[in-house]
Amino acid sequence: EMSPEERAFQERVDRGEKIEPKEWMPEGYRKTLVRQIGQHAHSEIVGQLPEGNWITRAPTLERKAILLAKVQDEAGHGLYLYCAAETLGVSRDELMEKLHNGSMKYSSIFNYPTLNWADIGAVGWLVDGAAIMNQVPLQRTSFGPYSRAMIRICKEESFHQRQGYDIMMKMAKGTPEQRAMAQDALNRFWYPSLMMFGPSDKDSVHSAQSIAWKIKINTNDELRQKFVDQTVPQAEYLGLTIPDDNLRWNEEKGGYDFSEPDWSEFFEVIAGNGPCNKERLGARVKAWEDGAWFREGLMAHAEKHGKRQAA
Ligand code: ACO
Repeated sequence: EMSPEERAFQERVDRGEKIEPKEWMPEGYRKTLVRQIGQHAHSEIVGQLPEGNWITRAPTLERKAILLAKVQDEAGHGLYLYCAAETLGVSRDELMEKLHNGSMKYSSIFNYPTLNWADIGAVGWLVDGAAIMNQVPLQRTSFGPYSRAMIRICKEESFHQRQGYDIMMKMAKGTPEQRAMAQDALNRFWYPSLMMFGPSDKDSVHSAQSIAWKIKINTNDELRQKFVDQTVPQAEYLGLTIPDDNLRWNEEKGGYDFSEPDWSEFFEVIAGNGPCNKERLGARVKAWEDGAWFREGLMAHAEKHGKRQAA
C-alpha cells in the first residue's frame, strides 16, 4: 500500500512534473535512479576503451580527429551523468568504487572487442544507434537532472551515429576486401547491439516499477523492435546483410520479425564473463590507480588554500 507521501509523489509523476533533487522521493525511486544513471555513466566511460583503441590507428588524419572528438564527447557524457547521480546523494568516489569492485554494471556491449577499422564504423552506426534509440525517450524521464543531461547527450550522440554510418558507407562501397570487412563487422555487432536494450520484457525485473515512475519510458522489447525497424533499411542502403535468416517484414504488426539474441551469452557477459570484461575493468582500475597522485595533490592544494583563507 502506498503512503500518502508516495501517492502524492506518484500523482506528480503522472501529471508529467519533473522531480528535482531536493524534493521528497521514495527511497526506491532514488535507488533505481542511482543504479540506472550510475550504470549509464560507467557505460560512457568504459565505452571510450573499444574506440580509444583505434585513435592511433585511424586511416587518415581527418578520421583520427573525428574519432578523438567523439571519444572525448563520451567522457563528457560520463561526467554529466555522474553529476546527475551526485544530486541524489551519492559521491563520485562511491560510484567509481562500485564500478571497480564489480558491484555496479556497465553496458554489456563494451565487453566485445574492436578488431579492425570497420568495427569503428559498426560501433558508431549500431551501438550509438541503439544508444540513441534508448536515450531519446529518456529526455522525458521524470528526474530533472537526468532528463536535462539526456537532451544534451542526444544531440552529440546523433553526430556519433552519422560518423559511424559514414565509415560504413566508405567501407561498403569500397574494394571487395573493405566490403567484406564491413559485412564481418555487422555480423559480429548485430546481436550484441540488440542485447543493449536489456533482457526480454518477461525477464526484465525493473521495467514495471521504472515505467510507473517514468524513470523508463518504454520497455526493452519496444525499443529493440524500433531499433530493428530503423536499422534494416540502413543495412539495405549499404548493401549489407543482417545476419538473421528469420528477418522479415510483418505487415500485420508493421515491423520486422527477427531472431532474439542468445540470452545465455548476454547473462554471461553481464556476470563478468564476456570476451573483454577483465581487460575493460582492468584498464579502468589502472587508470584510477595511476591518477591517485593527482587526486592527492589536488586535495593537498585545496587543504592548504582552505587554511590560508581561514587564517
Ligand atoms: N548491459 C548490462 N547490464 C544490463 C543490460 C545491458 N545491456 N541490460 C540490462 N542489464 C541489467 C540491468 O542493469 C539489471 O541488472 P541490475 O539489477 O544488477 O542493475 C538486469 O540486467 C535486468 O535488466 P532490467 O530489469 O531490464 O534493467 P533496467 O530496467 O535497468 O533496463 C536498461 C536496462 C534498458 C539498459 C536501462 O537501465 C536503461 O535504459 N539505462 C540507461 C541507458 C544506458 O545505460 N545506456 C548505456 C549504453 S549506451 C552508451 O553508453 C553509449
